[in-house]
Amino acid sequence: MDEAAIWREMGDEGLRRLVAAFYRRIPGDDLLGPMYPAQDLVGAEERLYLFLCFRLGGDSRYPDQRGHPRLRVRHGPFRIGMAERDRWLQIMGEAMRECEVAPEVRVELEAFFAQVADFMRNQEPSQGGPPPFGQPAE
Ligand code: HEM
Repeated sequence: MDEAAIWREMGDEGLRRLVAAFYRRIPGDDLLGPMYPAQDLVGAEERLYLFLCFRLGGDSRYPDQRGHPRLRVRHGPFRIGMAERDRWLQIMGEAMRECEVAPEVRVELEAFFAQVADFMRNQEPSQGGPPPFGQPAE
């Protein structure tokens, strides 16, 4: 299933519901909650929704409003290590479960989210954890 197929399966409304379910969980999360703008969660929700419409469906609203995504640069101000990546993916997993995303779509979305989330990491894997023996396990 390619990205266009994910888009067709989810539909605009499905993506909106998924992103809403994700952001509903953010303020109560001990790790990620404090990172997000408490005064502008509605705006943050809209930005992720429009980004997904752009990335999966080729819809131009995100670049029209925000320009090139440059997601790594935009995440630069936040400390994103393994724990933050894992938590983001966990919360998105819970949102997908709540929205009853079809298993074949879910598998594809999980792979897509995991790839982007990994790319957002800007901390050394060993920071904040025990020193790795030999080479880091990634
Ligand atoms: C790896 C863990 C991640 C963390 C801790 C994180 C955190 C954040 C935070 C704190 C913001 C600012 C909220 C705002 O004002 O918009 C943000 C923005 C955003 N994030 Fe993430 N994020 C992560 C992964 C992802 C992933 C996997 C995606 C896409 C699949 C994504 C897409 C976005 C987008 C589109 C924006 C808005 C960019 C803009 O136009 O300003 N993020 N993220």
